[in-house]
Amino acid sequence: MSRTTSPPRRARTAALAAFALVAAAAGAATGISGTASAAAPGCNVDYKIQSSWSGGFGADVTVTNTGDAISSWKLEWSFAGNQQITQGWSATITQSGTAVSATNAAWNGSLATGGTANFGFNGNVTGTNAIPTTFKLNGVTCNVPGGGGGGTNPPTGNRVDNPYVGAGVYVNPDWSAKAAAEPGGSRISNQPTGVWMDRIAAITGTTGARGLRAHLDTALVQAAGNPLVVQLVIYNLPGRDCAALASNGELGPTEIGRYRTEYIDPIAAILADTKYASLRIVTTVEIDSLPNLVTNVSPRVTATPQCDVMKANGNYITGVGYALNKLGAIPNVYNYVDAGHHGWIGWDDNFNASAQIFRQAATASGSVNNVAGFIVNTANYGATKENNFTINDSVAGKSVRESAWVDWNRYVDEQSFAQAFRQELISVGFNSDIGMLIDTSRNGWGGSARPAGPGATTTVDTYVDGGRYDRRIHLGNWCNQSGAGLGERPRSAPAAGIDAYVWMKPPGESDGSSSLIPNDQGKGFDRMCDPTYTGNPRNNNHMSGALGGAPISGAWFSAQFRQLMANAYPAL
Ligand code: BGC
Repeated sequence: MSRTTSPPRRARTAALAAFALVAAAAGAATGISGTASAAAPGCNVDYKIQSSWSGGFGADVTVTNTGDAISSWKLEWSFAGNQQITQGWSATITQSGTAVSATNAAWNGSLATGGTANFGFNGNVTGTNAIPTTFKLNGVTCNVPGGGGGGTNPPTGNRVDNPYVGAGVYVNPDWSAKAAAEPGGSRISNQPTGVWMDRIAAITGTTGARGLRAHLDTALVQAAGNPLVVQLVIYNLPGRDCAALASNGELGPTEIGRYRTEYIDPIAAILADTKYASLRIVTTVEIDSLPNLVTNVSPRVTATPQCDVMKANGNYITGVGYALNKLGAIPNVYNYVDAGHHGWIGWDDNFNASAQIFRQAATASGSVNNVAGFIVNTANYGATKENNFTINDSVAGKSVRESAWVDWNRYVDEQSFAQAFRQELISVGFNSDIGMLIDTSRNGWGGSARPAGPGATTTVDTYVDGGRYDRRIHLGNWCNQSGAGLGERPRSAPAAGIDAYVWMKPPGESDGSSSLIPNDQGKGFDRMCDPTYTGNPRNNNHMSGALGGAPISGAWFSAQFRQLMANAYPAL
């Protein structure tokens, strides 16, 4: 997995809207005509009133092509009231009476299957500002359940608001046995951990790890008729882990077809089995993928060629959209999209841009209703709460934000980040009842090196460095961190907006090998897992802080497990 930070003051990825408005009056639609293929047309439209003021409003429209690829588009709708568009961007918009048509700008006409285009406008209105009920893309009616390539708007069914409340959580016996076999491991071997579907073979089972049906059958036994959450990790995107090598996967950048038919479809078929309808299935979707499209693409200095490829081919968004659509259609599945961590998305340049990318993926899935929430800090090491300083403190005339450690981030810990990012996600259109999960599996930072109180107020750096629990060399370090400990034990509803603390990354499983180890899972060797490595732009050229002697990602790493227990906070 990659744990990439993107420090501030980097060039923002320019995505400036080409603003075009063709003023009202002219009746005829503009000349660009659609090329919707007759084969399998389909579309979803998400029309959102983003702001309103006396006599006016701003709207944001996202179009998802669920049919065959198109090279240009025209979206048409009618207003029910007296809305009058005054200004638009990222599309050419004409209005005649109540009829509106928006055609693509020069740069957003091509839409692959699952591709999205976004545009917006301001308008005047008095009276009711109703959302239009019917949209047509290149003449085809959108938002038809079952239409096109599968973008439907499933009802949320009988899901509860927070699946963790009043429920047990599945203990994976395969992980539990490894934990119990370590000295002192039985102190935590009964804790629930995530079950990673990290390759196609994991669905039927691999050596030492039972398959998905076997997990669910075991879960039914553990449930014994009571509510039980099963935590799955959906993790097999094409071109996986584009900013690192340690968790590259089996599917190449273009293998979106295999992702659909050999991975998501079989998982969805099993989860949809009515035998499992009583389980509350939490799926955490594609760890570390989407924010890479914001932070690790050109022209940023943190860009990697692989992330540029994934941005250009759209397969991260298409894949996550497909997963959310298929899994979200199952009434007892709760999709939580992976939302990185504060040391990645917490900078101003990344915060809203990441929320927008998540929104695009949800839109590609057909509906934001497919998203129950988001998970942060998966397999990462950021402390849940730093109690010895806050982002608002100033020391010796300098803000904590100016310290070398915080480096202009807006957040100092995972919980404040998760709560703020939740609000951001709601503001871009996610449902107001979304909940956050925080992976606390390895963010405890206890042991004798844990600061007992705030650092000295000599400088802002002595203050922050002396007080912080997180003792990584740099916030961008992510692989098998030396000194880390188990964090808070899993529990439900620990704080406002937080559905649960979870252990999604199973403690004791490696983040990546310390040197090259040949394997048949597509996993590479990332030098961020090598203790002698002096870093790259994504950790601002610091030492990696990794433990030596590590096996490939996902494999049992006994020394790491023992360290995590020794440095647990709260202590075991
Ligand atoms: C690995 C997966 C593994 C997961 C949980 C990831 O870094 O790539 O193979 O299942 O960690 O340990």
